[in-house]
Amino acid sequence: MDWGMNNRMAKLFRPDTGRAVWLAIDHGYFLGPVSKLEDPGRTIKPLVEFTDALMLTRGVLRNCVSAQIDIPVILRVSGGNSIAGPALSNEGIQTSMEEAIRLNASAVAISIYVGTEHEHETLMALGQLVNEGQRYGIPVLAVTAVGKELEKRDARYLGLCCRIAAELGAQAVKTYYCEDFGKVVKACPVPLVIAGGPKLKTEVDALKLAHDAIKEGARGVDMGRNIWQSDNAVGMIKAIRGIVHDGIAVKEAIKILEGSKQKK
Ligand code: 5RP
Repeated sequence: MDWGMNNRMAKLFRPDTGRAVWLAIDHGYFLGPVSKLEDPGRTIKPLVEFTDALMLTRGVLRNCVSAQIDIPVILRVSGGNSIAGPALSNEGIQTSMEEAIRLNASAVAISIYVGTEHEHETLMALGQLVNEGQRYGIPVLAVTAVGKELEKRDARYLGLCCRIAAELGAQAVKTYYCEDFGKVVKACPVPLVIAGGPKLKTEVDALKLAHDAIKEGARGVDMGRNIWQSDNAVGMIKAIRGIVHDGIAVKEAIKILEGSKQKK
């Protein structure tokens, strides 16, 4: 890897732990104003100090985030679909590499839709983005998107998606936790981070998810709703940080969560 690419990767994955807690706030690019993310600037204000990187679109970055912010940006560059449209998989590169460099992005992110009618286009778009990323030293994060079909999240399908993303050159892959997640990790030669998915029933469920994913080899989380849709968002991100960077047990993470509630 060239120096620039290495340096950006070192900003994204903390060199002392090799792991990462990224905060995903890119949901609006196809979901519109998701609950608790209506005003992204307000949502992230108490959370940024506990975040290793922010994943978002150029529109939210330019309009809702101060340019003085001191954390890396993972720029969501794919889009062109919406929850109201006929096919969520109909997504392409929407923001250029030149724009990502102008915005000082540390990485770009793109969704791939394996097994859908738009599989080919999204995989070709990933290849194109990797070619451009290699030219300028910008890592590409491939997101193994499932659209509305959440039931697709099993080790066989996610293992296929993650391996394809790595084979096509993505420097990191974001996927979902699933049963037998260790198999997905083992067959993917680049770092894997997990999304949280829709908000789980309880905060403890989300902490368990993060804990199990790390135990089985994930290099971090790129979570959104299970953090900022919680009434104790700061407690959640602090507890997840403990799990990811300090390797604490769920029981310890719950103490951090509860402690943060009392301080409110
Ligand atoms: C959408 C995304 C989101 O960033 C991702 O799903 C993470 O957020 P959450 O933890 O809320 O699922 O990539 O395609």
